[in-house]
Amino acid sequence: MRTRRTSAHDAHGRGRLLTHGAFWRILRPIMSKKLDMEILASLCKRRGFIFQSSELYGGINGFWDYGPLGCELKRNIKNAWWKHIVRTREDVVGLDATIIMHPAIWKASGHADGFADPMVDCKDCRKRFRADQLCEEQGLELIKDGKTVALPDGAKCPACGSRNLTAPRSFNLMFKTFVGPIEDDSNAAWLRPETAQAIFAQFSNIIATARQKVPFGVAQMGKSFRNEINPRNYTFRSREFEQMELEFFIRPDEAVELICGRVTTLADKPDLTGEPQESWGWEVWLHYWIEQRLAWYRSIGLPAEHLELYWQTGDELAHYARACVDIEYAFPFGVQELEGIAARGDFDLTQHQRHSGKQMDVFDEALKQAADKLDAAAKEAFTEKVVAEWTARNQSPEAARAFVAKLFEGKYVPHVVEPSAGTDRLALALLSNAYDEETLTDDKGKTDQRTVMRFHPSIAPIKLGVFPLVKNKPELYAKAREIFAQLQRRWNCFWDESGAIGRRYRRMDEAGTPWCATVDFQTLEDGTVTLRDRDSMQQVRLSVPELIQKLDTEIG
Ligand code: GLY
Repeated sequence: MRTRRTSAHDAHGRGRLLTHGAFWRILRPIMSKKLDMEILASLCKRRGFIFQSSELYGGINGFWDYGPLGCELKRNIKNAWWKHIVRTREDVVGLDATIIMHPAIWKASGHADGFADPMVDCKDCRKRFRADQLCEEQGLELIKDGKTVALPDGAKCPACGSRNLTAPRSFNLMFKTFVGPIEDDSNAAWLRPETAQAIFAQFSNIIATARQKVPFGVAQMGKSFRNEINPRNYTFRSREFEQMELEFFIRPDEAVELICGRVTTLADKPDLTGEPQESWGWEVWLHYWIEQRLAWYRSIGLPAEHLELYWQTGDELAHYARACVDIEYAFPFGVQELEGIAARGDFDLTQHQRHSGKQMDVFDEALKQAADKLDAAAKEAFTEKVVAEWTARNQSPEAARAFVAKLFEGKYVPHVVEPSAGTDRLALALLSNAYDEETLTDDKGKTDQRTVMRFHPSIAPIKLGVFPLVKNKPELYAKAREIFAQLQRRWNCFWDESGAIGRRYRRMDEAGTPWCATVDFQTLEDGTVTLRDRDSMQQVRLSVPELIQKLDTEIG
C-alpha cells in the first residue's frame, strides 16, 4: 500500500482525513472463531513478544522470556499499575524487597506448612499431575476430608490412561535453595512465592518512615516463584512470574465504630467510585478496591464484557482470607483469574507479631480521643458487644477483651485488603484481546490480509513508527531523523526506512503500534507529517506539535 501523494500535496490537507483509509474496504472479523492460542504463540514468537526460556537447549517447562516487544509491553503494564496504585494516590507508598528472605517469614505466613498442591504419580508412565486438575479434566470430584484428599473411582493418568495412580500427596510449591556454601537445613531458604509477605515483614519500618496513617497502602511488584506441578496454558501458569500487589491497611471495624459511632456497610449503598470515607468497614473497602481495579483494567483496554467476578467459597479461600474475589478474564482457553482481591483481616501482621515477638500494632490518635470520651459504663457495654460478636465467630472471649482493651489505648493491629495481580497473566490477556485479523478489499476488488494487535495506546510496546517516505533524498531523510530524535525522547518510537510504506505499516500493525508518521516532501515545505491510525488506517496531516499533543492525550 502506498501513501497517496496527491492528498499529501493538498495545501488544505493539514488536520483533515486523507483518503487512504477509505481506499480499503475492511471485512471484519475473519477471526470471529475463537482465537487459537497456537496462532497467538506463533505471532508472539515471530514478532518478539514471548520466547520459550532456554529454547537453545530444548526449553525448560514453565519458564518464559519476553523479547524486545514483550518486555516493553510488560514494562508499560507495570508502569501503568504503579501510576494507578502509587503515583496518583496520596495514601499508598512503594517497597522493593528481596526475593530471598529469612525463612522464618514463610513459617509465620503459613507458606512453609500450608502452601501445597495435592499431587499424584502414575506408577506406569511415572508422570506427575495435580490431583485437582486431573479430576476436573475428567469430570470427577476430588474427595476432600478436612486437609486430606483422595482420588475418586475412575481417575486415570491423563498421559497413558493407566489407573495405577498413587494416592494424592502434598507438594509444597516453594522453590528451596541454600544461602552460602553449605547445603544443610540450617542454611535453607526459599524463593518468595508472593511479594506480599515482605510488605508485612517491613510494616514497622514503613509506618515509622512513610508519614502515613491507617488507612494507607504499601505496593510492591516483582518476581515470585511457584514450583507448579503442571505449568500450562502458555504463559498463564508459569513457575517464575511477576506479581503486582497492594496491601491496603485499614482500621478494624470495631475501631471505626468507636471513632465514627457507626460502620458504613454495603447496605448503606456507599459511593464506591468516590473518595473513601472514614466510616467504611472492611467489606466496603473490599468493594471499593474491586471497583478501582475493574476501572483500571478497562482503562488499559480490557473490555468490561470479558471481565468477570468470581467470589471464592469457604473451602476455596486461602488460609489467610476472610473473603476473596477473583477478577477473571475470558481467555481463549477459558475464564481464568487475573487478580485476587482478598480481605486478609489481621492474619499476616498478627502472625509476624507472634513469630518475631515484635509488636505490630499502630497508635491511632483519633481512636484514643474517641475512647477517652467514653465513660466506664459505655466502655463496658462496648466490650460486651464485641465479646458477643467474636464469640459468635468462634473467637475466644479473652481474645476479644484483650483486643478491646488495646482499642481503648488507641492501639490495634491493622487489617488488610489485598489486590494481588499477575503481570504475566495480564500481559497474556492483553495479547489475546489485542489479536485481530482483517481482510481488506481495495477499489478494484483486490484483497489483502493484515494481522493487527489492537493494544490500547498506553500499553502498546511501540507508540509510533517514524518513516522517511524515501531514503535517497538527503534533505528529507535528515528531516525524518530530526523528527524521530525529537519524538523518541518522549515515547518508544520505531524507525523504519526499508520497503514500501504499506509493508512498513503491516509490520507496525503486527507489533500493535497505534500510529505511524511518514515524513514526505511536504514536510520540507510546511513541517507537517502524515499520521496513520492503526485501527482505522486513515491518515491525517499534522504538524509535529499537533502530533505530540494528540499522542499525549491518547497515551495518557
Ligand atoms: N499474595 C497473594 C497471592 O500471591 O496469591
